[in-house]
Amino acid sequence: MCGICGVVGHRPATPIVFEGLRRLEYRGYDSAGIATVDKGQVARCRAAGKLDNLGKALQETPLSGSTGIGHTRWATHGAPTTTNAHPHRAGQVAIVHNGIIENFSELKKVLVAKGRHFETETDSEAVAHLLDEHIQQGMSPKDAAFATIQKLQGAYAIAMIFEGHDNLLIGARHGAPLAIGYGEGEMFLGSDSLALAPLSDQITYLEDGDWCVLTQDKVEIFNAKGDSVERPVQTTSLTTGQIGKDGYRHFMEKELHEHPVAIGQTLQRVIDPETRRIALPKMPFDAATLPRATITACGSAFYAGVVGRYWLEEFARLPVDIDVASELRYRNPPQPNQGLALLISQSGETADTLGVLRELKAAGQRIVSVLNVEHSTMGRESDLVLGMVAGPEISVASTKAFTAQLSVLAALTIDFARSRGTLSEERERQLTDSLLDLPSHALDVLGLFDEIRSMARVIAQARDVLYLGRGICMPIAQEGALKLKEISYIHAEAYAAGELKHGPISLIDHTVPVVAIAPSNILFDKTLSNLQEAKARGGRILVFTDAKGAERLKDVAEHIVVLPDIDAFAAPILYTIPVQILAYEVALLKGTDVDQPRNLAKSVTVE
Ligand code: AGP
Repeated sequence: MCGICGVVGHRPATPIVFEGLRRLEYRGYDSAGIATVDKGQVARCRAAGKLDNLGKALQETPLSGSTGIGHTRWATHGAPTTTNAHPHRAGQVAIVHNGIIENFSELKKVLVAKGRHFETETDSEAVAHLLDEHIQQGMSPKDAAFATIQKLQGAYAIAMIFEGHDNLLIGARHGAPLAIGYGEGEMFLGSDSLALAPLSDQITYLEDGDWCVLTQDKVEIFNAKGDSVERPVQTTSLTTGQIGKDGYRHFMEKELHEHPVAIGQTLQRVIDPETRRIALPKMPFDAATLPRATITACGSAFYAGVVGRYWLEEFARLPVDIDVASELRYRNPPQPNQGLALLISQSGETADTLGVLRELKAAGQRIVSVLNVEHSTMGRESDLVLGMVAGPEISVASTKAFTAQLSVLAALTIDFARSRGTLSEERERQLTDSLLDLPSHALDVLGLFDEIRSMARVIAQARDVLYLGRGICMPIAQEGALKLKEISYIHAEAYAAGELKHGPISLIDHTVPVVAIAPSNILFDKTLSNLQEAKARGGRILVFTDAKGAERLKDVAEHIVVLPDIDAFAAPILYTIPVQILAYEVALLKGTDVDQPRNLAKSVTVE
């Protein structure tokens, strides 16, 4: 995923675009660039590496002009070099692009045959040459833009500027998000509302196939057929506080501390404050007669889905088929008539998840999506969106969005169990109350940073780490292992604790720490046995448990972090927080780039 932004206005464009890129950097950060048009002349400046490198380059080659475009990149085609950095230029145009042009090879072949010289390995450069080709044929920028996008296949969000046109900015989107921000005598383009928040609270999200022609005082929007269309102007409520670090060292640290608020706000959305009962929107299907559900997502969101499966099967007696989106899409399992497909995504733009959404929809499934960005592409294509109220999540490693996803799934479980008659009133009350207690318990867990930091010192020395969990704690072990890998670059694997003796135990020695998620629930005794087996082989045992569990683990574990007592139903949500804090503390010790780990992007909008 990359970030693009642009401005056509009356103020110097470069600082506006640069700040927009700063807020988009979480989307990709291996190179960046800006291009402006001033007195009819297009100029550009690009740099490999982090945005700061572009800042330094701009000091050497400042760009003038009040119209400009910018791009921060997560490389798909072509290494993350300055040459491959956007904006791409060709003749009289400069463009920035987020997405993948799937037919770029065919386009490039035709353009090279026409004598065009390509200087990069990217797919995006073909867009610049194609656009300029149409300009050279005598088309106006608007006609050239429309002719160009009609030839593109794949996913794109594009911003374009033109020589000779200081007061013109054109954008287009298909399969990658693009929004318009409205100003006074200036208009903006951005990949998302975060980029536009400090510039405008009046936002229009373009729909797939839309393209737009912006000048300082005018916005025209057209659909894929070229017809003029109206799109709603929404008021965003994002504050600079929400998109800043607020005094924390990293966005991840801030977002870890926002777990209580994210959980609390999300629960407020799904629990009626009067009755203190789950109150979800009406489902586009009858939960009582649903034969089964399909759950799919990617990465952390997938692990949230695995927790959801445990809940739905145990409490709502609903069979669940679950798989990562990139597998489910091509596994093509038989689907029931008008069944439920439950998709989970923080960004709502993940290509793998979006792709399987479209397949399942075509197979007649009812699409319910659990999303943090509700106006995202997935949001627009779902039958029902269950919004998480986690607020903007900037750090690439997902934290508060994960517990917000679980909060929604827990509420959905109770809603389905009620519809299916599988939960007594009393037990429903207990489960709901355990959710309502979560924000204060989460606040208590945020007080455990010091204990967790001493655990982190053991992990930071390791090359390999095993995470163990049983039952519903197994996906939390998976989430913990993923977090550690993605921000500290230490290899980690999660196993069902019962599986240890079927092979992985051969890995155990004093160099391989074992992290266990082990609340004193009905599976605790079995987990304790597995940990004793690991300890007997020299394993270093580190455990997240409660007071009762700590008492029984004191002779087994080298480090024990004690969490508040909580109903087994809500435990996965609470136990998520310390495993994420552990990964954060290890990354600090390793000195890695916590918010923008190498090779990653916040939302992967390519397959
Ligand atoms: C989580 O820490 C990772 N950044 C990654 O696994 C992420 O959860 C995954 O790419 C899915 O993103 P989404 O929730 O935006 O769809």
